[in-house]
Amino acid sequence: MNIPVDIAPDQDLLVQRTAEKIAFLLIEAIRLRGTASLVLSGGTTPRRVYELLTTLSFAKRIEWSAVHLFWGDERCVPPHSPESNYRMVREAFLDHAAIPPSNIHRIETELPPETAAARYEEEVRQAVPQDGRTPPAFDLIMLGLGEDGHTASLFPGTQALEERDRLVTCVYVERLEAYRISMTFPLINNARNILFLVSGKGKAEILRAILTGGEAVYPAQMVRPVNGNLVWMVDSDAASLLEKAKHS
Ligand code: 6PG
Repeated sequence: MNIPVDIAPDQDLLVQRTAEKIAFLLIEAIRLRGTASLVLSGGTTPRRVYELLTTLSFAKRIEWSAVHLFWGDERCVPPHSPESNYRMVREAFLDHAAIPPSNIHRIETELPPETAAARYEEEVRQAVPQDGRTPPAFDLIMLGLGEDGHTASLFPGTQALEERDRLVTCVYVERLEAYRISMTFPLINNARNILFLVSGKGKAEILRAILTGGEAVYPAQMVRPVNGNLVWMVDSDAASLLEKAKHS
């Protein structure tokens, strides 16, 4: 499979290029359809991207009032918890960008996990224009990569990987001894654009295994857009074990 990998020389440039890519895709979606849907991920590198997106050079170009925000996954903690992906995005981004509250679609993790997942699925169905596409197609889904090959909260060995009907599910992750809520592959793979953001030496080995392995062994390898684009945005530390020739 020929997967586009954009390797930035360092994390600063990775953050810059990713913010530019997001801006480009949102502006394009708004131009074509009058609205844009963006699914956010948790993690430390995304946080820097969100902070950058609040700066003037992006605020001038992106019509934030036309952008709807969603979360690809969430930890089952209250929204004010330091572990909450929603809280991270609120601090890094929402508190500084002109996003109307009605465009912010957070996962209600104060509810029991099953209920939160079912309600979020309904929210997605209501809020994302279907345009005849089932499941709904997000304009852009951002994803991270865990050292065990997980993405969103789709962890190796969990039932959530097999889900074919539900768009959002709750998953108990034994290693973390915690519930998570996650979008599932049928929903993720229907997106118009999917962007993996991966940074740091700690991700080099799993990134190599994922991009050079044939069979889908890791959850992140099950991300295969049906009818959309997939790009991996990585820095040179994360890419240090990739054979350059293969991806340049
Ligand atoms: C989360 C996400 C998870 C994350 C990866 C990478 O933590 O909320 O579920 O999929 O994106 O673990 O995280 P880092 O980019 O922080 O390494």
